[in-house]
Amino acid sequence: MKALYYEKYGDISVLKQGELDDPKVVPDEEVLIKVKYFGLNPLDYKLRSGMLKLMTFPTFPRTIGSDFSGEIIALGKNVKNFKVGDNVFGFLSQLNKGVSSQLLTANESILSLIPSNTDLPEASAVPLAALTSYQALVQLAKVRKGNKVLINGASGGTGIFAVQIAKMLGSSVTSITSDRNIRWMRDTFLVDNAIDYNQENFLDNLKNNEYDIIYDCYGNLSFNSVKNLLKSGGSFVTTDPFKLSNLIGMLVSKFSKKNFLSVIVNSNNTDLNVIKNWIEDGKIKIFVDKKYNFNEAHLAYKYLETQRVKGKVIVKVDD
Ligand SMILES: NC(=O)c1ccc[n+]([C@@H]2O[C@H](COP(=O)([O-])OP(=O)(O)OC[C@H]3O[C@@H](n4cnc5c(N)ncnc54)[C@H](OP(=O)(O)O)[C@@H]3O)[C@@H](O)[C@H]2O)c1
Repeated sequence: MKALYYEKYGDISVLKQGELDDPKVVPDEEVLIKVKYFGLNPLDYKLRSGMLKLMTFPTFPRTIGSDFSGEIIALGKNVKNFKVGDNVFGFLSQLNKGVSSQLLTANESILSLIPSNTDLPEASAVPLAALTSYQALVQLAKVRKGNKVLINGASGGTGIFAVQIAKMLGSSVTSITSDRNIRWMRDTFLVDNAIDYNQENFLDNLKNNEYDIIYDCYGNLSFNSVKNLLKSGGSFVTTDPFKLSNLIGMLVSKFSKKNFLSVIVNSNNTDLNVIKNWIEDGKIKIFVDKKYNFNEAHLAYKYLETQRVKGKVIVKVDD
């Protein structure tokens, strides 16, 4: 099968397009998927660069990407909930492989049918980022109606889902982005307040004891830098739990009435079905910034690595 893979950690230049062996067996609880699209996340370049090598198996060649959509073409003998021909989406925790190949085996417990009002390209842009923000805001921080939520990095992959989830559940949302995304935040996501992070000391202009939740899905805030903005009992949630300032924040929060929380996204179809239903009900929209062909995947990475993506970047897998 055709695949995009790397044989050593490094920059974009280590990515290769070539042939890898087809999966030989379909394990009993898994399905064989003809992958049609895969979506990119910062995790993918962090893995490829070797930054997370202590947390993954050093197995090479490694394919890239976590998010995928495609069609089921064979079933393991214990698979109960899917049939051949189903269009599914999900994300694979990349401990030893990614999803950038024409064929992929995946456990049925991480798969959902794609939302009926989307297509395979859009569906591939959803799982990891949407699940991260759902698990952070709903399951960890327990966002609810009337909350005031501050979202840093609101225009990125995780951010656009966070803003929509918080608004949908009745919160007042303040977004933090650069100037070029302020109007998009106001007009499309109907945020209550939009802040430009390039304004000098922009955090100092926010009211103290104002927010129930501060969700840092970009990763450059810390508990210490924003704890004054939180109400008593409020929560700071980060997507970057291993940064030194966040490890310190976790300790400091033990002596505070304000909470430090961190999310490590979990792939499962109970949560993915919640997201799927919200998309089908029109409560969450998908924003694909750019779509690339298989032989342009290095360009997709180059763009993602600018950290200026608006929504998501996806790649089409060759037939
Ligand atoms: N722990 C987990 O399980 C988990 C899961 C998912 C993601 N993450 C991590 O969360 C982070 C964000 O992921 P993502 O997919 O949302 O990334 P992304 O799509 O690459 O984020 C891009 C966005 O970041 C914004 N941005 C750039 N500089 C900024 C700044 N100084 N302040 C605030 N926003 C800024 C950009 O907005 P402008 O263009 O307006 O600057 C852009 O829209 C990554 O580090 C990722 O690895 C962790």
